[in-house]
Amino acid sequence: MPLSHHGAARGASLGAVSTSAPSSAPHADALAALLPELREQYAALQQAGLTLDLTRGKPSAQQLDLSNAMLALPGEGVFTDADGVDVRNYGGLDGLPQLRRIFAELLDVPMAQLLALGNASLTLMHDVIAYATLWGVPGSPRPWGREELVKIICPVPGYDRHFAVAQAFGFEMVTVPMTPDGPDAEAVAALVADDPTVKGLWVVPTYANPDGAVVSEAVARRLVSMPTAAPDFRILWDNAYALHHLTGNETKTANAIDLAEQAGNPDRVLMFASTSKITWAGAGVAFLASSPANIAWYRSHLAVQSIGPDKVNQLRHALFFGDAEGVREHMRRHRDILAPKFAAVNRILTQRLGDKGVAHWTDPQGGYFVSLDVVPGTAARVVELAKGAGVVLTPAGATFPYGKDPHDANIRLAPSMPPLAEVEAAIDAVATCVLLAAAEHAAGAIAG
Ligand SMILES: Cc1ncc(COP(=O)(O)O)c(C=O)c1O
Repeated sequence: MPLSHHGAARGASLGAVSTSAPSSAPHADALAALLPELREQYAALQQAGLTLDLTRGKPSAQQLDLSNAMLALPGEGVFTDADGVDVRNYGGLDGLPQLRRIFAELLDVPMAQLLALGNASLTLMHDVIAYATLWGVPGSPRPWGREELVKIICPVPGYDRHFAVAQAFGFEMVTVPMTPDGPDAEAVAALVADDPTVKGLWVVPTYANPDGAVVSEAVARRLVSMPTAAPDFRILWDNAYALHHLTGNETKTANAIDLAEQAGNPDRVLMFASTSKITWAGAGVAFLASSPANIAWYRSHLAVQSIGPDKVNQLRHALFFGDAEGVREHMRRHRDILAPKFAAVNRILTQRLGDKGVAHWTDPQGGYFVSLDVVPGTAARVVELAKGAGVVLTPAGATFPYGKDPHDANIRLAPSMPPLAEVEAAIDAVATCVLLAAAEHAAGAIAG
């Protein structure tokens, strides 16, 4: 039996350490024999009294400090943007041109097709789904809420808040596996071809949450050009980590909006992004980009909901960055803080687990997460053991719809927030828990 549902190839092509880990008898014997020693190690961990948290992908205080100059912006007496817009007043539903110009360049979309809105892209995703449910999207035969059944495709492992939105609106979630090049495009194409109830697909195209995969140009082309039975099928292209590189290789996201237009499906892609992990999570700016028809559709509903976004915050951002290169430079400063933490995760997991055949994990080139696959049937136990040792991990199963990982194998690690020394201590503890859970499992299998 392979170690996990992902297969070893995925980790390998992401540059990750990837161990083949058949749960065959020799391994099981060797592992089970380690049980007493691992129990001792674990008891020592418990004695150490750790209180560490690797749950959510939040920026660290050190990263938040990078944007502290924004606290003094726009500055006394500064209340118009470069185009003369008075940011103190109502209006400007599309967002501040000065900021949209910067992010249009970064996200590689025409400025007219990019809105700068509130403080969180998740709100925009939620509202797109809400509007679709209430009124349908361009091309809908009827509102999605009037359909008997709406299905949405969720690549797994994936982002739990995408699943939560789909669940809140009563959509049925259908999973497809992630590959090193993004969602398994052939599996997606097969699902959408004949079933008009399949209306949507979540995609995190760059440095996916949690496995760090980047959608290749070929996968992007396939997804935007595949025939769909639903005339109003949409790809929710959540580009949350578009600029969040961990190496000097600043990968460019495939331009799905352009490709969709070229493929004759101009309205298929809605792109989301934000500065939550560029400046301040909670006090940033979120963006929506799409075809002219989708933007007009979104705007028409937004106009009822709002007279305009927080342009003071948008001006503050525009002045802080100056231009697109200012954002890129700023992201390099984030990288300098984050990269050592991700390197530590990979180094410690390799040292502790590299030759044990009980886990494989990603070594992402960007984004906020490491995806760890442990012996099937032990992920929940690893999380439980870690908690018992004072290390809080994202609940096992969170990377799957309804919180249910059918293999109980995947754990999302989020090393961004704690200081480096704490990341190191936490990952070392996690490695002990992975080994102990694997040994318990092996011993149980032998006994059973
Ligand atoms: C894939 C993905 N999308 C969206 C978000 C949240 O973005 P925002 O803060 O803009 O709502 C996150 C945060 O972890 C994320 O991982």
